[in-house]
Amino acid sequence: MVTEAKVESRAVLTLPLCLEGAAEAQHGGPNLLQRILSLFKNVRPGSDLTRFQLPPVFNMPKSHLQCLGESVYCIGDDMLKKCVNGKTSLERFTAVVGWSISTLRPLIFGVAPFNPILGETHHVSADTLHVLMEQISHHPPVSALHATDEKDNIEIIWCQHPAPKFYGTKVEAVVHGKKELKLLNYGETYVMESPKLLIRFFPVPGIDWVGDITIRCEESGLQADLCFRTKSFLGFGGSYRSVTGKIFDSSSLKTFYDLNGHWDSTITVKDSEEGNVTVIYNAKEAISRFNTPTVKDPKGLWASESAVVWGEVNQGILNKDWEKAREAKKGIEERERELLRERKAKGETWVAKHFTVSHTKEGGWECSPIHKWVPPAPIALL
Ligand SMILES: *[C@@H]1O[C@H](CO)[C@@H](O)[C@H](O)[C@H]1NC(C)=O
Repeated sequence: MVTEAKVESRAVLTLPLCLEGAAEAQHGGPNLLQRILSLFKNVRPGSDLTRFQLPPVFNMPKSHLQCLGESVYCIGDDMLKKCVNGKTSLERFTAVVGWSISTLRPLIFGVAPFNPILGETHHVSADTLHVLMEQISHHPPVSALHATDEKDNIEIIWCQHPAPKFYGTKVEAVVHGKKELKLLNYGETYVMESPKLLIRFFPVPGIDWVGDITIRCEESGLQADLCFRTKSFLGFGGSYRSVTGKIFDSSSLKTFYDLNGHWDSTITVKDSEEGNVTVIYNAKEAISRFNTPTVKDPKGLWASESAVVWGEVNQGILNKDWEKAREAKKGIEERERELLRERKAKGETWVAKHFTVSHTKEGGWECSPIHKWVPPAPIALL
């Protein structure tokens, strides 16, 4: 058993990913690309990478659960308030499109977050928005997120199942799973897809969000079709991190707005009738320089909290003490295997604490939160 005092002293939180972070990141020293490619030398193209183990030197000091959480609890410019304050269904829909884009964060080429352990949790509050995540499957990795704001009557439910595959010159991760934002005051549910994550080694190394997604509101019938593109093949011309699309009525197919821009700068919509243009998203205001979340209530921390589970590894990475980081990571992995063996021996199946987990006919994952509201968290973002 981990005692409370120990839990408290081991929690290590790190700076959230933000717009400037990726640009300023140390690019892992010399020969990064060669070192990355050597990791893949025994991997066949087309292989599933969900069991791929990385040495800590290729890890950022946080788990995937934290990256997912940050994309919801680290948000400037109060994008969620705009969704609630929209006077018409079109205004609210447009704000939700902006919010959905804000959940895309610039990642850093050459470093990946840890694969969370089974049952790992991450629980953080930002003002009145409380966010609780749980890793509901280890292989394949599936993360469940529930966020609520009782003041604004908002609920977010997101079951995320990334499926990375290696293709020789790139790694591509399709991000499966349902992502819903509910504006309970209006009885509206917005369902959105996530673009794919592309990690490209050649010809120009880079990491980016790509592909086509839709965002829909069943109640109003509004829909957005968006297309994310990366830099053109040779890296010259073409636009980088561009988003194009339209917002339309899915029954009459009437287009209201044409959408254009870059998810790392601004996104605008142009009124199809009047021709006037409005900025609906500004990355500088929404995803710039966040504070590091802090432990406000050490006694309230669970032993399953990401910042506790990975605390020692995080500290090793922050200190560039790779030996310590590797030892700590190995310890976590060995303990996981041991717990798995014990469950197998006893014939037990693992059950999520905070979500009811189900499967779709197509083999997809779905999660529904057990509690209506997420309680205030022991970790807060100021
Ligand atoms: C364009 O102007 C009209 C009339 O003022 C307004 O209703 C509409 O919301 C505006 N559209 C955009 C995209 O700004």
